[in-house]
Amino acid sequence: MVTTQELPSAVPLMALSTGFWAFKTLAAAHELDLFSRLASGAAITVAGLAEALGLHQRPAEMLLTGCAALGLLEKTDGRYRNTPLSETYLVKGKPYYFGGFVQMADKRLYAGWGRLAEALRTNRPTTWDPAVQSSMFEGEDPTMLALFWEAMHSLSTMTARKLGEAVDLSHFRRLLDIGGGSGAYDIELCKQYGALRATVFDLPHVAAIAAGKIAEAGLTDRIETADGNFFEQLPGDHDVHLLSMIMHDWDEAKNRALLR
Ligand SMILES: C[S@@+](CC[C@H](N)C(=O)[O-])C[C@H]1O[C@@H](n2cnc3c(N)ncnc32)[C@H](O)[C@@H]1O
Repeated sequence: MVTTQELPSAVPLMALSTGFWAFKTLAAAHELDLFSRLASGAAITVAGLAEALGLHQRPAEMLLTGCAALGLLEKTDGRYRNTPLSETYLVKGKPYYFGGFVQMADKRLYAGWGRLAEALRTNRPTTWDPAVQSSMFEGEDPTMLALFWEAMHSLSTMTARKLGEAVDLSHFRRLLDIGGGSGAYDIELCKQYGALRATVFDLPHVAAIAAGKIAEAGLTDRIETADGNFFEQLPGDHDVHLLSMIMHDWDEAKNRALLR
């Protein structure tokens, strides 16, 4: 018998190297609307999916098998259904819908991360161009901006839910959400605290996105939007200020100005 040298397992490297296979399977299934199609317990066969999406059977089967292997679908008697994970977070219109983040990671971040070594060498972003934009929030392609705020909404709805549980806001009446984006915190916190009112303060085109989300949530009577530049004037008359995922975007001098 030949004795070979004991080596560490290379399996973690295989998992790291193929991480994008898993992500792209999720992203493709989401793009093809698979999880919304299977909402509320609906089931589909390979032939059914191929026909519904106009796919060949082979890729339809690969997609369903891949999603099942990733825990996104479960298979019984040749029929595939959503798991609790995909049913809760990947069906459009659900309160904790996470598809916005999946879409943003796929359409906006994925290409940029493909140029990570270039970003490291140049110390420059790869998803926006500082030569033509003053920040990633100014003057970007409206489709990409819409994707960005859908993603922020998906993420922030979750963190807002935990914030409301972890910090007692029952003594406060008027929240100012500085750079509040889509208003996810305001919507979630106003749902949790019945006496709370909130203002989402952001750039004009973002305040418009927040207004749409607030209307969808049926909270226009308690949440308003205000637009402007947070380095200039902030609206007064609030007893609690929230800054969520703002300070990481700016340097120390800008952050000091913001916290003045
Ligand atoms: C990373 S997002 C965070 C959004 C939100 N706070 C959340 O956690 O979901 C940063 C936000 O800051 C806003 N923002 C950037 N510069 C701003 C400025 N000068 N004045 C007001 N808002 C600004 C952006 O439009 C964006 O909505």
